[in-house]
Amino acid sequence: MTIAVLGGTGNEGKGLVYRWAKAGYRILIGSRTPEKAQAVAAELTDLLGGEVAIEGATNLAAAQSANIVVLTVPYAVHSETLGMVKEALKGKILIDVTVPLVPQKVTMVQMPPAGSAAQEACELLGEGVQVTSAFQNISYEHLLQDGPVECEVLVTGTSKEARSETLKLVAAAGLIGWDAGPIENSVVVEGMTRVLIGINKQYKSTSAGIRIIGVEAPARER
Ligand SMILES: NC(=O)c1ccc[n+]([C@@H]2O[C@H](COP(=O)([O-])OP(=O)(O)OC[C@H]3O[C@@H](n4cnc5c(N)ncnc54)[C@H](OP(=O)(O)O)[C@@H]3O)[C@@H](O)[C@H]2O)c1
Repeated sequence: MTIAVLGGTGNEGKGLVYRWAKAGYRILIGSRTPEKAQAVAAELTDLLGGEVAIEGATNLAAAQSANIVVLTVPYAVHSETLGMVKEALKGKILIDVTVPLVPQKVTMVQMPPAGSAAQEACELLGEGVQVTSAFQNISYEHLLQDGPVECEVLVTGTSKEARSETLKLVAAAGLIGWDAGPIENSVVVEGMTRVLIGINKQYKSTSAGIRIIGVEAPARER
C-alpha cells in the first residue's frame, strides 16, 4: 500500500506522514517542488531513525503512484490542486483533510456553497473517485509526537467501503476513529475546526480536539 500526501511538506501532512511511515506504509510526499518534498522526506526519515519508506515527488507523480491519496493543502488552493491531479485519482480513494478557512472571522463557522470542502472535491472529481473527509479536528502538534493522542477522528465519506479503508489508516496512525456517515456530514466536522480554533484562542491553547463518549471505542493499532 502506497499513500500519497499532497501538500505533505506542510505541518498537517508531515504529522500524518510521520505516523503512517512509522506504521510501515510506503509514503510519497507531494509538493509543487519535488526538491522540497525530497528534503521533507529526508527530514522525517531521520526523525524516524532511518528504517522507513518516505520519498518526495511532485503532487501529480505522487498521486499517480499511490493507492490512496491524502490532500493537506490550504483551502485557497484546494480546487486548483485537485484539478491538477484529477485524472490520477480515478478509481482511488481521496482523503480530504482540508478545512475551508477564509481569512476573515476564522472562529465563526462559514462553509462554501457546496456545503463543505469535501463536497466541493466530490463535485470536482465526479463519481470515479471515492472521497472521504478526516483529520480536520486533529492539530499537527498531536501527530508529530510519539505519545497517545486523546483527540479522536470523525470520518465521513461517499461510501461505507471508503470510510472503512480510511478508518484503517486512522487506526494505523494510532488514533481512534469513528464512522461519521455520508460525506454530507463533513460540514459538521470541517465546521468544528473553526469552533476548536476559537476555543484555542479563548483558552490560550493550540491543540483542542474532540472525543466521543458513551460508546465503546474501537481499538487503537499502537
Ligand atoms: N495545521 C494543522 O494543525 C491542521 C489541522 C487540521 C487540518 N488542517 C488542514 O490541513 C490543510 C493543511 O494544513 P497545513 O497547516 O499543513 O498547511 P500549510 O502548511 O500552510 O500548507 C501545506 C502545503 O500546501 C502547499 N501550499 C501552500 N500554499 C500553496 C499555494 N499557494 N499553492 C499550492 N500549494 C500550496 C505547500 O506545499 P508545497 O509548497 O510543497 O507545494 C504547503 O507545504 C489545511 O487545509 C488545514 O486547514 C491543518
